Amino acid sequence: MPKVGVWIIGVHGSVAAASIAGAKIIARGLVTPTGLITELPELLDVEFLPFDQMVFGGHDVGKRTVRESFTNLSNEAHIDYKFAEGISDELDTVEGDVRRGITLGCGKVISEVADMPLDLDSIPLVDATKKLVDDIIAFKKKHNLRSIVVVNLSSTEPPPLIGTHTETLDGFEKALQSDRKDLLCASMLYAYAAFKSGCPFINFTPSAGASIPALIELAKKQQVPYVGNDGKTGETLIKSVLALLFKYRAMKVLSWQGYNILGNMDGKVLDEPATKLSKKITKDSVLSQILGYGPHTHVGIDYVPSLGEWKIAWDFIHFEGFLGTRMNLQFTWNGCDSILAAPLVLDLVRLVELAHRRGEKGILPHLALFFKHQLGTDVSDLAGQWDLLLDYLKKAKEERI
Ligand SMILES: NC(=O)c1ccc[n+]([C@@H]2O[C@H](COP(=O)([O-])OP(=O)(O)OC[C@H]3O[C@@H](n4cnc5c(N)ncnc54)[C@H](O)[C@@H]3O)[C@@H](O)[C@H]2O)c1
Repeated sequence: MPKVGVWIIGVHGSVAAASIAGAKIIARGLVTPTGLITELPELLDVEFLPFDQMVFGGHDVGKRTVRESFTNLSNEAHIDYKFAEGISDELDTVEGDVRRGITLGCGKVISEVADMPLDLDSIPLVDATKKLVDDIIAFKKKHNLRSIVVVNLSSTEPPPLIGTHTETLDGFEKALQSDRKDLLCASMLYAYAAFKSGCPFINFTPSAGASIPALIELAKKQQVPYVGNDGKTGETLIKSVLALLFKYRAMKVLSWQGYNILGNMDGKVLDEPATKLSKKITKDSVLSQILGYGPHTHVGIDYVPSLGEWKIAWDFIHFEGFLGTRMNLQFTWNGCDSILAAPLVLDLVRLVELAHRRGEKGILPHLALFFKHQLGTDVSDLAGQWDLLLDYLKKAKEERI
């Protein structure tokens, strides 16, 4: 199979480093593929993109390299040092395909920590967007790639302003032409550039990305698929399973309080109130969708620098059973964030590449399993989402693609 590009927005980040290093370690057969859905025995006869055919590159605004991020993660997550040693040179070659990004509308923390020259922020939006498109097309030519999948793994942005610029493609392009930097944000420009370059777009973050109607219109027009928003890796993953327990036993959830504490730069960025709001929106929606009513909920997110890559969630669920008796369930989740996220990113790349090869366009509802705020389907529980994926793959196998 010819090589396929994986163009990562936020290529120097922790999830990006875990995904790139993970693909290279798996490709060398150094470790069993635990955590990867596309490697499950029931999916082995689907023709997914092999890991050794993925070529990585991307945009970032910070100078930290892929190798530095992976070394940091390896130390924190106690990953066997032999893995890092074996692939260090390959991680360094990714730097030859890293290009400067844009920080428009990304919030105060990103403006402060971005240490690459931010030339794209000071030129007209039309020129900046053209540069993003040119970077992707040049990457394709340089490596003679069959296609490219663009993945957004950059820091979370505050929610955007909604208006005609988000509602229609015409409105979006008018805002672009008239240089309305007050209306548009970086994740939208990256999604726009991906679609304009003929590439599918995966939004693993809670940022707007391509989820606005204007850009979904563009994805359809350009005949490319799109999936999002916000990878479902920890607390929300458990919620999407546990909520069914209450539903199927006809017990009433009265309150669901969740507290998350996390370190790393993602935690620092989410500590900014406007950015935190984006995350809360995607984390909060799942319960009422599954239960069919809205219990009292709270999602707390606090930055605790000493935790580094580790995220702890403590949830308290107050519920009512037979004869009005009130009981509670509590759980604690202690997850290594980037290690949970990376296999999902790699699965998504393979599944979206498959959909692109099959000529699918617009939102892909069968990939709801991977997201906190799934687009294109009302199915919110994990079991139902799993069935959507298996049904789709069964059909794909029958059609022999
Ligand atoms: N780790 C998880 O379990 C998980 C789950 C769901 C979603 N996410 C989301 O994934 C994203 C990445 O998480 P992470 O832990 O790797 O964060 P990180 O802070 O380690 O990495 C983010 C990277 O994005 C870069 N960046 C920031 N703004 C940018 C811009 N405008 N253009 C280009 N690059 C930019 C940063 O320089 C950094 O290299 C976050 O938005 C996070 O909320 C993570």
